[in-house]
This record gives sequence, structure tokens and C-alpha cells, in this order.
Amino acid sequence: MTQDTLQFIPLHKTFGAQCVGVDFSKELPPEVVQQVKDGLHKYGLLTFRKTGLTDENFVKFGQHFGELCPNASADNRVKSKYIGDPSNIHRDGTVVQKGELQYFIGKATGIFHVDKSYDPRRVRYTTLKCTVPVPAGTGGATEFADSRTAYDDLDEETKQYIQDKVGAHSIFESRRKAAPWLKTFQMLDPNDFPFGKFPVVETQPQTGRKDLYLAGHLHHIEGMDQEESTKLIEKLFNHATQPKYVHKVNYEEPGDFVIWDNLAVLHRAGGGSYVGIHPRDVRNLTIYDNSDGEWGFNDRNQERIDPMKYIRAAHEKAFAGDSTANDFNNEILDYD
Ligand SMILES: [Fe+2]
Repeated sequence: MTQDTLQFIPLHKTFGAQCVGVDFSKELPPEVVQQVKDGLHKYGLLTFRKTGLTDENFVKFGQHFGELCPNASADNRVKSKYIGDPSNIHRDGTVVQKGELQYFIGKATGIFHVDKSYDPRRVRYTTLKCTVPVPAGTGGATEFADSRTAYDDLDEETKQYIQDKVGAHSIFESRRKAAPWLKTFQMLDPNDFPFGKFPVVETQPQTGRKDLYLAGHLHHIEGMDQEESTKLIEKLFNHATQPKYVHKVNYEEPGDFVIWDNLAVLHRAGGGSYVGIHPRDVRNLTIYDNSDGEWGFNDRNQERIDPMKYIRAAHEKAFAGDSTANDFNNEILDYD
């Protein structure tokens, strides 16, 4: 198939498309990159199948969309400055078990969110590549919700009411929502850390379309009393994540990958019966758009905190390193 037969096959009535016809064995010509970018802005989410993309070419692909956010942490399995590793795999290759700290941290990705809204500088695009898929029928999908159509469908009164509202996001809020009974997360009060503050209604610059910028990270809405704020967050979140707005992407082959615009869709990890049993080896890149909007209402000099440092310290304090000594195993549920 040649580059000029590039096509977008819609995945859902209102968003998402499979992009067919990009030859990833070669350097992508600028006109192909532009077509992919246009498709991404139009559909909000693109899938690519059986690409054979190496980690190196994955990074090159991501760089076409903007400045890559450094992602790797010191204990990453994947040695790249930019490639993040949201897999369920330890450095020694074993699968993360239910009840381990990494399992509880991962559970929060099962709540719909946008990426890094808790940082002073949010990211715009995320791309996730499957290296080893889980066995068919055991889950491991990513679910996406069309946050632009969800905005469009709101009544005019609600649109007016939320137009200038500012949401305060914290990574510790989504961890608490995922496992509210876990002492580790109870010990980390989002109010003790800087919030990422962003408009509840964002605008996708390339299309002018508005979207609901919501996430499990959303702790409160500025200037509202707590009860009203929580009510509004729940109302918008329940609205935007209705099944009619959701499309699920399964990773079938190594090299299948997706790219999405965090100003067009929300996403979450779908969970499944693979959890604790099969490796789900996926790698991601997050990408800045270098717009003023990516700083939201945050101080550009504010340093990004390292949440893992605080989570590990709290866990150590809560359980003295032995999470099995505590009585929460009955509370462990699959999140699909
Ligand atoms: Fe995410």
C-alpha cells in the first residue's frame, strides 16, 4: 500500500478512526504527517494496526506532534528518556500481583481521565503502543470517551454555568478514588500539594470545538463550596462517560498503537481477567503542544512534584513495607 492511499475508517458514530496506509518502515513524508495530524484533530483518537514500530521509531513518530514530555522514572524497565511504562510488569519480568503497591497505583488508570492534568504543565497528546498484548478475551483494552460530543450535548444553561469554571486536579485524588480504603492514599491529602488548575471547558485550537476537560484527578472546582463542587463534578463526569460516548480499543498484535488528543477524549484502562496473571506490555509517550493553554492557571515556575516519592514514603509508613499484613485484600476488585 502506498502513502497516497492513506485512509481513516471511523470507529464510532462521533469520534475515533483507524488510520490505514501509513508505511512505518520509512521516514514519514511531511504530507503524510500532516494528514495524520488533521485526522487526529478531526477524530480525536486514531488507531494503527500491525505497524511493526520499534521503540526508536515510536519516539520519532511522537516527535512529529510536538515536544515529548520526559517520562522515564529511575526504575523503568524501558531505558528511554521519553517512553513511559504503564505496564503491569516488574523490572525482573514478573507480573504485578493484586495487593502490591503498583497494582493500587495502576487502579487509578481505570478511572476516566486526561493525562497529566495534575501537573503545572499538562500534556496535549498521548500515544500508547502495544509491545505484548494480553491473550484475547482477557481484557487489557483502553476505553475512550468523546468529551467534545459530550460537551455539545449539554443543555445551554449548563454550558453557560461551566464556561469559566476552573478545575483543580491532583494525582493523589485519583489514587484515593481508586482505593479509598487504602491507608497509603488516605495519608496523602491533595490539599497538601499544588493542584494543576485548568478550565473545565477547553477548546481544541485546530477545530475550535469545545470539550469537557475532566479526570479522576479532578479534586474540586475553584470558587465553589465543596458540596456543590462535588455535585457538579459527578454530574459532568457521569454525563461524559455514558456508554453512548465510549469506544473500546483492544490491542491485538505487537505494534498496534493509538494516539489521542487529550482535548478531545477522556480515556481509561479497561482492566480484565489478565490482571495479576498475564503481562500487559504497553509503552507510551506524552506530548506538549507548546501553547499558553498547557499551563492553565498554574505558575510556570512551579516545579512538578514526583508523586511516586510521596506514595512510596506513605506506603512504607502505613505498612512498614508489608502490605499483606493488612486487612484490605477483601477489597481488591477487578476494575472492568
Ligand atoms: Fe492515562
